[in-house]
Amino acid sequence: ANSLGDDLARILVTEAELKTRLAELARAIEADYSADEPPLLVGVLKGAVMVMADLARELRFHAEMDWMAVSSYGASTKSSGVVRILKDLDTEIAGRDVLIVEDIIDSGLTLSWLQENLASRGARSVRICTMLRKPDAAKVEVDVAYVGFDIPTDFVVGYGLDYAERYRNLRDVAVLAEHVYAE
Ligand code: PRP
Ligand code: MN
Ligand code: MG
Repeated sequence: ANSLGDDLARILVTEAELKTRLAELARAIEADYSADEPPLLVGVLKGAVMVMADLARELRFHAEMDWMAVSSYGASTKSSGVVRILKDLDTEIAGRDVLIVEDIIDSGLTLSWLQENLASRGARSVRICTMLRKPDAAKVEVDVAYVGFDIPTDFVVGYGLDYAERYRNLRDVAVLAEHVYAE
């Protein structure tokens, strides 16, 4: 068989749990910003696509979106620590409040670099919203304003998270069976 649900060890966070938590995060974000000056949502391709789509629609203010693509992992499961801009913002962010939207913070290398990069462009504020975080995998401390779930260091896929570009369209977050990446 070659189906989406194959090779999953177990479901870690269900679609329903993601949805409930996302609504809570949206209420917290609405409370922290003014509807007159909502933040620019910056999604990090490709993993953040699902959380961006869901968060933006959950917010009750105008949610302007922009995207960056950075490279840190490639097809491997290990973080190289190298961050390279593959696609930059279309938006000038000097003086603006920016909210980076991510699917997961693993080592923290991508986000600590990105937060500093966007701050250096003169943004008024740069906060981070991530659906998942692996506290035990942290190599650098990242100040994260909004976190959906802290999870163990298992290799997880789904809800935007991939293994070799697969499983992103899985609705839940699941632990990948070890044999898939051990080969
Ligand atoms: C993953 C994930 C985060 C980053 C987190 O992206 O979506 O962006 O790694 O890792 P870190 O905290 O160790 O830096 P990836 O580089 O796999 O690209 P993708 O979003 O296109 O899958
Ligand atoms: Mn990513
Ligand atoms: Mg990836």
